[in-house]
Amino acid sequence: MNSKLIFSVALFFALGHFVGLTKASAQASVPASAPVQAEAPAAAPFKEPSVRLAVGPWVTRVTENEFTVLWTTNMDAAAWVEVAPDDGTHWYKEDRPKFYDSYIGRRRLGKLHSVRVTGLKPGTKYRYRLMQQAVLENSGRTRVILGEGWGTPVISGKEPYSVRTLDSSKDSASFWVVNDIHERDSVFRNLMKGIDKAKLDFVVFNGDMTTQIENEGQMMDGYLRSASKTISAAGVPIFYNRGNHENRGVYADRLLDYFPTTTGECWYAFREGPVYFLMLDCGEDKPDDDIRYYGLSVSQEYREQEAEWLKKIVSSQEYKAAPLHVVIYHMVPADPKTSWYGEQQASKLFMPILNGTGVDVMLCGHYHKYSFFKAGERGDTDFPVVVNSNSDKLSVRCSYTGGKGKIDVDVVDQSGKVIHSHHFTR
Ligand SMILES: [Fe+2]
Repeated sequence: MNSKLIFSVALFFALGHFVGLTKASAQASVPASAPVQAEAPAAAPFKEPSVRLAVGPWVTRVTENEFTVLWTTNMDAAAWVEVAPDDGTHWYKEDRPKFYDSYIGRRRLGKLHSVRVTGLKPGTKYRYRLMQQAVLENSGRTRVILGEGWGTPVISGKEPYSVRTLDSSKDSASFWVVNDIHERDSVFRNLMKGIDKAKLDFVVFNGDMTTQIENEGQMMDGYLRSASKTISAAGVPIFYNRGNHENRGVYADRLLDYFPTTTGECWYAFREGPVYFLMLDCGEDKPDDDIRYYGLSVSQEYREQEAEWLKKIVSSQEYKAAPLHVVIYHMVPADPKTSWYGEQQASKLFMPILNGTGVDVMLCGHYHKYSFFKAGERGDTDFPVVVNSNSDKLSVRCSYTGGKGKIDVDVVDQSGKVIHSHHFTR
C-alpha cells in the first residue's frame, strides 16, 4: 500500500468515527420528541471577575460635620459608601444615602477609594457600609461596563462599620499616639490591643510609620492592614502626622491620597472636646542639599509656608477660644548642640510662634526613646514636651470642667503596662 492510499483509508475511518460520536452525543442529550434544531457552538460560561475588599477601611479627615473613608479593592472598581444613623434600625429598613468616590464631578475608577461623607451632625455616631462595582470594561467614550455590586456585610450577625464625628461642646477628649513604627507591624498590633474597650476619640500616627514610602504595599504591610482590623473595627478614626522618613521614597508624594487632610497640606488643625490640636509637619532632618535626597528636598521652603499658616492659626478666634491646646509634632524642639539641621530650622520657625499661646503639652517622637522635658527645659519652649519611644504608645485623656483643665499622659508599653505618667493642669 502506497502512502497516498494509507492516508485515504485513515481519513475515511477517522471521519466515520467523528460522525458516529456526534450522532451518539445528540441522541443522548436530545429527547426523542424534541424538534431537531441546528447545533450552536456551546458558549463559554460567563465568568465575571469578583471585586473584593483588599485593605481597609480606615477613616480620617474627621470634623464635626464630615469624615472620609478609604479602602482598596483587589481590582479597579467604582465605589461608594452608604451611611445610616446609629438608631437601631435594620440596615435594609430604608434606602441609605450614597456618597460616591468622585473627583471634579466624575466617579473615580481605581483600586484606592476615598469617599468624603458630608452633612453630618457633631458628636454623632454613624454607621457606614463600603460598596463597589468592578470595572469589567473601560473603553472610555465607547463603552464602560461595571460589574456586580459588592458591599461589606450588614446581615447574619455582621455589623456595619461605625465612626463618631468630632464634638467641640463636650468636656473631654481621649486618644492614643504611636510613632516610629518603621513598618514593625507586630509591634503596632501589640500597641493596638484593647482599643475596642478604650473608647477613644481617635488614634494619632505621629510620623515614621514607614522608613520610606516606595509603594502602597509598604504602608499596607507595615501598619495599615492591621490598623483597619483594629482601629477601624473599633469605630475609631486616625489622624496622620508626617515624620521625616515619610518624605522619602518614590511613593512619598502619594501620602495624602491615603490620609487626606482638611488643609490639603501635611499640617492641619482640629478641635475635639475642649482641646485644640495642632498637627505640625517637621520636614526632613538633614539639609535639603544632602546627597541622600538626590536634589528633591525642599523641606525648608515647605516649613516656611507652614510657619505662615501657624501664625494665622494661633491668632484665630477658634484657637484662642479653646480651653486646652495640644501640639502633635514628630521631631523634638531642638537642642542647640545635638539636634540636626532639620530640627534646628523647624524649631527656629515654629517654637517662637507657639510660645505664649497657651500650649499645654507637645507630644513628639523621632528619637526612638522616651524622654520628658518640663517647660523651658528644651528648645526655648514655654510648654512641656513628652517624647514617646518607638515601641510604646501615649494614652492621653484631656478634660475641662468647672473652669479647670487637666491632661493626663500615660506611656504604655506593648503589654499594656503604664511605664510613665504625666499630669498637666490649667
Ligand atoms: Fe524620625
